[in-house]
Amino acid sequence: MTRTPSDRTTVAAGTSAPVLEARNLVKTYGNVVGLDGVSLELYPGEVLAVIGDNGAGKTTLIKCLTGAEVPDEGAILLDGQRVHFRRPQDAREAGIETVYQSLAVAPSLDVASNLYLGRERRKRGFLGGVLRMLDTRGMREQAKHELQELGISTLQDVTVPVENLSGGQRQAVAVARAAAFGSKVVVLDEPTAALGVRESNQVLELIKRLRDGGVPVILISHNMPQVFDVADRIHIQRLGKRAATITPRSHSMTDAVAIMTGATTVS
Ligand SMILES: Nc1ncnc2c1ncn2[C@@H]1O[C@H](COP(=O)(O)OP(=O)(O)OP(=O)(O)O)[C@@H](O)[C@H]1O
Ligand SMILES: [Mg+2]
Repeated sequence: MTRTPSDRTTVAAGTSAPVLEARNLVKTYGNVVGLDGVSLELYPGEVLAVIGDNGAGKTTLIKCLTGAEVPDEGAILLDGQRVHFRRPQDAREAGIETVYQSLAVAPSLDVASNLYLGRERRKRGFLGGVLRMLDTRGMREQAKHELQELGISTLQDVTVPVENLSGGQRQAVAVARAAAFGSKVVVLDEPTAALGVRESNQVLELIKRLRDGGVPVILISHNMPQVFDVADRIHIQRLGKRAATITPRSHSMTDAVAIMTGATTVS
């Protein structure tokens, strides 16, 4: 049965506890306040969009949630347990995969190697165990399979170095990697900013598939139609604070922009 958006809202806003939660995060850079006491809740089965003007603190917020930054104050909870991520690897090991705004792919490696970066598969037995030889063929076959599963069709040759791909295709590799390995949460910071229409749509479909497969997604985007298409709830950042959390049913795009820019305040 296909769930309707309103069913999902019931799940999200209702009885279940957040998968990932931030409480009153503060992050300063010298005199610059990146986050000024921000809370966020990501519920099971939802896509939570994070929107806000440039410099509103969106990237800082997700960096704190995913170990790329350590907040000065506040708490982060995963499945209700307090966590202290010191580096992105800590969050990855806990099941949170992130595609950062500044792309973390290795340009000289091929697509398959990028998919398995930091998680390389070794050959079986002596060759892998003792000589540490990589199972390149196995990784390529698996990478091809993953990309097909994810519906990323423009990227069938996984032996091409990533530096030869277009910006959008690189982004697709990073998104595919997050989708393939994010077991609890996937976080995407502007995943469609560099993409063409077709690839953007593929990423949006991928986000919906992740959610429907049980992995909640945090999506940072400036693209209002995309946000209103895919998000169950929308966290609005303004000047380092959470201005409001709305839904595509409770508010229009115009409302969202008004809250984002401070033209409307929400109590
Ligand atoms: N490493 C840093 N050093 C100093 N200031 C920083 C650093 N990172 C972020 N900031 C500042 O913190 C504030 C929030 O930045 P952040 O990158 O989180 O904004 P954003 O909402 O992601 O913006 P954008 O939409 O442009 O990506 C900005 O004023 C920014 O200049
Ligand atoms: Mg940003």
